[in-house]
Amino acid sequence: METALYHEEHGYYASPAPKVGKKGDFITSVSVGAAFGKILAHRLAHIWEDQGRPSPFSIIEMGADRGDLAYDICTELNTLVPECHWHYHIIEPREESQLAQSKKLKIFQESISIHPTIETLHGLEGVFLSNELIDAFPVEIIQLQQGQWMQLFIEVENGHFRKTWKQPTTPELQSFITTLGTDFSPDYTTEFRPGLDSFFSKVAAALTRGLIITVDYGFPRSHFYDPKRSEGTLQTYQNHQRGTDPLEAVGRQDITTHVDFTQLANAQIKHGFQVHDFTAQARFLTHHGKAWLLQLEQHFTPQSLPSVQQFQTLTHPDFLGSKFHVLETAKGFLPSSPPITNGPLEVLEIPS
Ligand SMILES: C[S@@+](CC[C@H](N)C(=O)[O-])C[C@H]1O[C@@H](n2cnc3c(N)ncnc32)[C@H](O)[C@@H]1O
Repeated sequence: METALYHEEHGYYASPAPKVGKKGDFITSVSVGAAFGKILAHRLAHIWEDQGRPSPFSIIEMGADRGDLAYDICTELNTLVPECHWHYHIIEPREESQLAQSKKLKIFQESISIHPTIETLHGLEGVFLSNELIDAFPVEIIQLQQGQWMQLFIEVENGHFRKTWKQPTTPELQSFITTLGTDFSPDYTTEFRPGLDSFFSKVAAALTRGLIITVDYGFPRSHFYDPKRSEGTLQTYQNHQRGTDPLEAVGRQDITTHVDFTQLANAQIKHGFQVHDFTAQARFLTHHGKAWLLQLEQHFTPQSLPSVQQFQTLTHPDFLGSKFHVLETAKGFLPSSPPITNGPLEVLEIPS
């Protein structure tokens, strides 16, 4: 998955062809329109207040694609809280995307920095946010064979891909398998995403006080590893067509899997963040978008219609609204608004 998506020359994300939006391979909440970023900006403005108005207020985004979300957030923040001295950091290793982001964000250039890796950032106060980043992090595929978990490897033989199953190789995977147990049907196949602990240790070094907002599709652990979900969650996307074979059109299709939000929250907790909220995207946007919606209603013109339609798409229960979830974890301050979900730790199946 790592090679298919991120190989410098042949990886899916190496090609300049658009990935996100109508002309690409898949739709994201960002590509629906500016409503998503505008509502997130309202949330950020509150967080800025809750943190005691830090100056600068650092916003770190990873997986920013062409900078559209950054543009929508920065534009709205400037209207909402012009007195906020924000700085937007984008983590982007690919040069072609860096150029696209600089171009899109030219009007904010004084307040934008683009870094190839997060490791250059330290001790910031503010927010780390991502939309559909974690689902693009590579996974290992495992399968229960004769009562034993086996790990999938892809080998190349005479120019063809060949699947082979071997004993799990890394301590991280071995330890996860022990916690998962073997109470599943024969040939049950699923995924495990390695490296989240080490990734969030870097995020925690960059953001020493603030909020992590993760938006992605997925479920808490018992839903992810539901005995009925016997073929895992891996999906491929090309020209808006969904598939399940990652060995087809390698480097030309996206490969993604759902997020185990229990694993994600635990990785953040391990680095000092506390779960504040975990809720479906529809509820998150409806709750934090109240002021934005009210403003839209009070000054309604025919030009407001696209924003209303975007909001409906983003919150539709059969589409992005319930499939996507938002996890918020905080460190060094307490968000003033109570969580939307009662007992988010319980929902995430994490002992308090
Ligand atoms: C599914 S796309 C989402 C794009 C965008 N956030 C949106 O919602 O439209 C996933 C993005 O994550 C980026 N990505 C994956 N791993 C990354 C990493 N280690 N560092 C920076 N970006 C990464 C990919 O390059 C890609 O732009």
